[in-house]
Amino acid sequence: MTVSSITVPRPDDWHLHLRDGAMLEGVVGYTARQFARAIVMPNLTPPVTDVAAAVAYRQRILDAVPEGMDFTPLMTAYLTDNSDPEEMRRGFAEGVFTAAKLYPAGATTNSDSGVTDIANIRGVLEVMAEIGMPLCVHGEVTSADVDIFDREAVFIDRILAPLVKELPEQKVIFEHLTSEQGVQFVGSAGENVAATITPQHLHINRNAMLVGGMRPHAYCLPVAKRERHRLALRRAATSGSSKFFLGTDSAPHAREAKESACGCAGIFNAPYALESYIAVFEAEDALDHFEGFASRHGPAFYGLPVNEETVTLEKRDCVVPDEIDVGAAKLVPFHAGETLGWTFVG
Ligand code: NCD
Ligand code: ZN
Repeated sequence: MTVSSITVPRPDDWHLHLRDGAMLEGVVGYTARQFARAIVMPNLTPPVTDVAAAVAYRQRILDAVPEGMDFTPLMTAYLTDNSDPEEMRRGFAEGVFTAAKLYPAGATTNSDSGVTDIANIRGVLEVMAEIGMPLCVHGEVTSADVDIFDREAVFIDRILAPLVKELPEQKVIFEHLTSEQGVQFVGSAGENVAATITPQHLHINRNAMLVGGMRPHAYCLPVAKRERHRLALRRAATSGSSKFFLGTDSAPHAREAKESACGCAGIFNAPYALESYIAVFEAEDALDHFEGFASRHGPAFYGLPVNEETVTLEKRDCVVPDEIDVGAAKLVPFHAGETLGWTFVG
C-alpha cells in the first residue's frame, strides 16, 4: 500500500539533551516544533542533582521556548554516589522529577559526577522502586579493559540483569539501545523494562564513522555498532512491541567541538527527528507501527496520557541542510546534506 501522509498523536521525545544558556535557547525550538514533551537529561555542568536545580532548569527551558509553541519539559535527577533518597522522593512527589538518570561515572559527556558503583545508590533505588519512580539508564560499563563496542553487552551482564532481578518492581528505561544483546534483554525482561531507540542507531552502523575517513558527526555514545546490531534495533523499533519507543538522544555540540582531535560524542538530530524515524518504518514496511513507537508506547510506560493534538508527515522530499546556525553555535544536523522522503508539516 502506498501512503501519501500520516497523522499521529503528537509524539514526545523520551531522551533529550537541551543544554543550557545560549545553546538551550538555540535548540529548544527544534524539539518543541515536533514534540509535545521530552524527558530532559540532567548532564549539565554542574549536573541537575536536586529538586531546586531541576525547578530552576525547568524554568530556564520554559523561558527559552519560542513564543507560540507549547512544550513540556519532563525533568530528571542526575544520580551520584551521594544522592539522597529523600530528595528523590520529594522531587517525584512534587511532580518535579519524572525519573532519575543513572550515568556510570565517566561513561559519556558530563558524567564525571556519575555513579562509581551501583551499590552506592542502593538506598535510592529501593525508594524509587517503592514510589514507582522510573530509572533511566545509560547502559555502558566504563572499565578500561572492556572494548567500547562491548560496553553495553557487558553492562547488561554485570549491572542491569542483577539489578532487575534484585528490584523486580523497578521501572527501568534502557536508554539509547544500540545492541542485539540489549534488544534481547529488554524483549525478554518483564513489563517494567523498556528501551528508547535513537534515529542514528536505526540508520547507521560503525562504518558511517570510520569508512573513507573519520566522521565525527556520526560519533555518539553509546557508539554505533556492527550492522547486525542495527538490524536488530530496526526489527525491535518496528515490531509493534510496546517495550520500544522514541528517544532521540539529540545532543548538540558546536561543530568545532566535534571536529577536533578529541571530538565530543553526540548527534544533533532534533530538527528532522520524525522525518528520520518514519523513513525507517517505511523501509521496513511497518508504517502501521509508527504511531505506537512515536506516540503511544512512551506515555503508556511512563503512565502519562497520550497527547490529544496530532501532527502530520507527508511523503515528499525534505532536504536536510549541511549546517544549522543556532546563534550560540553552528551545528551539523544528523542526515546533513541528505534528502529524506518525508516532510513534517506540523
Ligand atoms: C550525550 C551528550 O552529549 O550529552 N552524548 C551522546 O553521545 N549521546 C550524552 C549521552 O547521552 O551519552
Ligand atoms: Zn543522551
